[in-house]
Amino acid sequence: MMLGGILLFLLSLPTFVHGNLCEPGARGAFKVRLNIKAALGDNAYTWNADEEYLFKAVMAFVMRSYTKNNTFDISNIVLCNSTERISFWFVVTSPSNESDPVSYSVIEAAIRNERNRINSAFLLDDKTLEFVQIPPTLAPATQTSSSSWLIVFGVVVSVVTVAIAYLVVSGVIRHRKRLKSSEENEESEVGIRSDVTKNGGLHDKTLLTGSLGNDSYDRTEEAHTAF
Ligand SMILES: *[C@@H]1O[C@H](CO)[C@@H](O)[C@H](O)[C@H]1NC(C)=O
Ligand SMILES: *[C@@H]1O[C@H](CO)[C@@H](O)[C@H](O)[C@H]1NC(C)=O
Ligand SMILES: *[C@@H]1O[C@H](CO)[C@@H](O)[C@H](O)[C@H]1NC(C)=O
Repeated sequence: MMLGGILLFLLSLPTFVHGNLCEPGARGAFKVRLNIKAALGDNAYTWNADEEYLFKAVMAFVMRSYTKNNTFDISNIVLCNSTERISFWFVVTSPSNESDPVSYSVIEAAIRNERNRINSAFLLDDKTLEFVQIPPTLAPATQTSSSSWLIVFGVVVSVVTVAIAYLVVSGVIRHRKRLKSSEENEESEVGIRSDVTKNGGLHDKTLLTGSLGNDSYDRTEEAHTAF
C-alpha cells in the first residue's frame, strides 16, 4: 500500500517537474499562437504531433544557431498547455541540466536571430506565427519609419509656414514702407513747394550762389541791395 503510493509518487514526479518547468508564465516560458487557416486558407495543414516535433527541431536548431552550441537537442524543447485553437507554451532546458530553463533573453534573441527560418518552416509569417511575448520586428520598424516620415513632414510644413509668414510679413512691411515713403515724398514736396512759395526769391538766390560763385555773388549783392 505504502510502496504503491511511493511508486505512484515517483511515476508522477517527471510530469510534476515538467509541469513546473513548462507552464503558463513560468520562468523562461514562451507562448506561441498559430493561425494556419488565416495564412494558408484551403491549403492549411492540421497541427499534430509531427508538427510539434518539427517545432522542437526548429527551436533546437534556433538555439544551436544562436549559441553556437550543438548540444541543444529536441529533448531540450518542452511543450505544454496546447489548445485546440493552436496555442501552446514552451521552454528550452539547458543541455547540461534538464530542470534548468534557458533564460528568457537568450531564447528571445535566438528567435529574433532566426525568425525568418522559423516562419518559413511552417509557411507562416509574423502575424500568423506569434511568439506572444516577442513583438514582431517589423512593427517597430514601420513605426520608426512612419515617425521619421512624420518628422520630415513636420519639418517641411514648418519651413513652408515660416516661408509664407516671411513673405506675408515682408510684403506688408514693404507695402507700408512704400506707402510711408510716398507720403513723405508728398510731404517733402509740399514742404519744398511751400518753401519756394514762401521765400521763393531767397531760395532761388541761394541756389544760384551755390552753383555760380562770384558771378552770382554780385547778383545776390544786387538782390540784397534791391531789398
Ligand atoms: C497548463 O497545463 C497544466 C497541466 O496540464 C494544467 O495543470 C494547468 O492548469 C494549465 N494551465 C493553464 C493556464 O491552462
Ligand atoms: C554548450 O552547452 C553545454 C551545456 O550547457 C556546455 O557544457 C558547453 O560548454 C557549451 N559549449 C560551448 C562551446 O559553449
Ligand atoms: C539544475 O537546475 C536547477 C534549477 O535551476 C537547480 O536547482 C539545480 O541545482 C541544477 N542542477 C545542477 C546539477 O546543476
